[in-house]
Amino acid sequence: MQHPLRIAPSILAADFARLGDEIAHVEPHVDWLHIDVMDGHFVPNIAVGIPVIASLRPRSNLVFDCHLMISNPEFYFDALRTAGADQVTIHLEVAPDPTRAAQQARELGLRFGIVINPNTPVAAAEPFLEIADVVVLMSVHPGFGGQSFIEATIAKIEELRKLVDLASLPTDIQVDGGVGPANAAAVVRAGADVLVAGSSVFKAPDPVAAIKEMRAVEGR
Ligand code: DX5
Ligand code: ZN
Repeated sequence: MQHPLRIAPSILAADFARLGDEIAHVEPHVDWLHIDVMDGHFVPNIAVGIPVIASLRPRSNLVFDCHLMISNPEFYFDALRTAGADQVTIHLEVAPDPTRAAQQARELGLRFGIVINPNTPVAAAEPFLEIADVVVLMSVHPGFGGQSFIEATIAKIEELRKLVDLASLPTDIQVDGGVGPANAAAVVRAGADVLVAGSSVFKAPDPVAAIKEMRAVEGR
């Protein structure tokens, strides 16, 4: 069953020189904070890491949703947990069988999720729906913010929603990349529970208004 909508702004689009203030501004209006962790191997870019998460932790009560676009993600779970992560999501493309990683995350008290890239079929994630608190469908190729939403993701969301509901699983469906007020309704209608939104929030003239617009799509 689809859960109440949660919005997870992605700090990748924020002004890193004012990161704490940017988060504080949106915090009352959102649910999770999406933190893109990159290593320059799995994706051709480098973003924030463990010390930044540790600095932000005392300044925010949001769920820290750490999207790990890195090789050997499970090696970092312990340090991420200590720094303040609440949830880690790892790519099936680096961990084709995430069963052990899911166990390791849970033992540390982390929520666990799997992510699939635009070119990876939903069928690849199907065997692991039960061990995932969240399944993330990338709606852009990972590595950079500000890209356009890949429309074919809508059919993948619908397909995943059916699988999750058929098995009566509580698994959240999260959609990441190019999401904003213009397409939030379609993404939620297709079955998403959690919207990641970077540029459409932090690059908007009024981030709070953009969030409210996305929230208003629920029930439409
Ligand atoms: C892309 C990241 C996304 C990105 C989303 O690799 O995983 O979380 O920050 O940014 P927008 O919303 O700008 O596409
Ligand atoms: Zn992300």
